[in-house]
Amino acid sequence: MHTDSLPVAGAGEPRLDWNRVSFSPGECPVKVAAATNGSLRSRGVVTSHGLRSLDSMARRDSHFTCQECGHVAPTWTGRCPGCGEWNTLVETLRRERGGARASGSRAPAGAPAPRPVPLREVQAPAVDRLDTGVAELDRVLGGGLVPGSLVLLGGSPGIGKSTLTGMALGGMSASGRRVLYISGEESAAQVKLRAERLGEHALAVPALAETSVEAILAVLEAERPEACVIDSIQTLHAEGMTGAPGSVGQVREAAGAVMEVAKRLGTAVVLVGHVTKDGGLAGPRVLEHLVDCVLLFEGERERSFRTLRALKNRFGATSEVGVFEMRSGGLVEVADPSARFVGEASEAAGSCVLCAMEGTRPLLVEVQALVAPTEIVPPRRVVTGIDRNRLAMVIAVLARHGGPSLASADVFVNVAGGVRVDEPGADLAVALALASAHRGEPLRGSGGKPLACFGEVGLTGELRFVAHPERRVAEALKFGLGPVLGPPAAEPIEGLGSVPSLRAAVAAVTRSGQHARRAA
Ligand code: TYD
Ligand code: MG
Repeated sequence: MHTDSLPVAGAGEPRLDWNRVSFSPGECPVKVAAATNGSLRSRGVVTSHGLRSLDSMARRDSHFTCQECGHVAPTWTGRCPGCGEWNTLVETLRRERGGARASGSRAPAGAPAPRPVPLREVQAPAVDRLDTGVAELDRVLGGGLVPGSLVLLGGSPGIGKSTLTGMALGGMSASGRRVLYISGEESAAQVKLRAERLGEHALAVPALAETSVEAILAVLEAERPEACVIDSIQTLHAEGMTGAPGSVGQVREAAGAVMEVAKRLGTAVVLVGHVTKDGGLAGPRVLEHLVDCVLLFEGERERSFRTLRALKNRFGATSEVGVFEMRSGGLVEVADPSARFVGEASEAAGSCVLCAMEGTRPLLVEVQALVAPTEIVPPRRVVTGIDRNRLAMVIAVLARHGGPSLASADVFVNVAGGVRVDEPGADLAVALALASAHRGEPLRGSGGKPLACFGEVGLTGELRFVAHPERRVAEALKFGLGPVLGPPAAEPIEGLGSVPSLRAAVAAVTRSGQHARRAA
């Protein structure tokens, strides 16, 4: 390190005093100066997990705990001295024994052991859920926010998390609830600009721009809101911890502290969280265990449709999905998404309508496929809205059981409208769209309408039963798409054209397949 490149102390300038600074292994000193005249305020070291301020290191009341073996170390190191695992040390606050936040306190010696009670006798007071005024959000939550619960709302940047939470708080405030919006990412003025687009109710929400956990806890104690949004958990920092905001230790500490206060005050807290590039919620996995409910807000930023789904819900089903559309005045709930997606469906080759289930709700979406001769090896397999591995399986089964071989073709599959379908029931629609795209023949539904289908494709080419066939068929019939192609059901369903195998399905819908059948 070239110390001469550092600011040279002159008259009135801070002097470097290296003796007052110590470094632990894995840390690299940058522009470090312990000011002797008090004028240089910022001092720091860069570690592999962010910039640490030396000021706070001096009064640090945290240490580093290995997430694998529990070893406690005073400084951060890349490798745990206890178990030898890499990157497992996470900053944690030192806790006094029996301190305010210690959980699972031991009963004093001599006290009678607590008595377990049969669940039937446990007193469970009926709680009134908070109606957010955003019906789709309430449905995904299982009927509104539960007082005292902690909800984690994840989503990639710009998807509309702040908009959704702003609307929900506006709705609650309009129905006379005490609410609070805490923004760590934007200034109050920026929050106001958004609220202006969302309308009068959103403007009535009290807002605060704050990132200090201690300050936020104090505000919660003072204001005692019924519902509070913290946007986002990755911006908070706890006093006494040196990790950068968003680091595992900081996020966990902040969420734990907020949870404790929220449960005590009965405040429903929505923590907004970021999503990493690979789709996981940023921050520690432990956050997902800590909260009562994990919601994921998804969609393509360029498209206007957004889906909200629950990954975990202690107070309701995880199968519900809410569909929204981003408009200039905020998010608009799409009460009948099938109508939107089917309206866009075309009768071109490579298009097929899938009767999907989104939770307990049937949803019609258009699956589009394009098959083109490839110029590269291995050929491209590009998917949006379905699982890539599922596509590979469908292509392989198609080649063996009555469909075309796509080994030398680029394959693109897209679920129109930016919707994501994560169920095996999508297999048949993908297979038929591919077969249709390969032959360049549109799929034949009845009465000039697009073909609707559903069903899981097995490795031996059979079509397998998927849940709620009757609801899927009923939804398709509602839009005049029928008969619907699907696997045989246990009981006859009106409007279902059942086919036992993928081979039979391909033969039933393509003209060339029908010629072959007639010739046979
Ligand atoms: P935002 O809620 O800030 O996203 P996040 O908090 O998830 O990062 O909003 C995202 C986008 O939505 C932003 O690019 C602007 C757009 N938007 C609208 O189209 N209409 C609106 O009424 C609002 C408030 C935002
Ligand atoms: Mg935001």
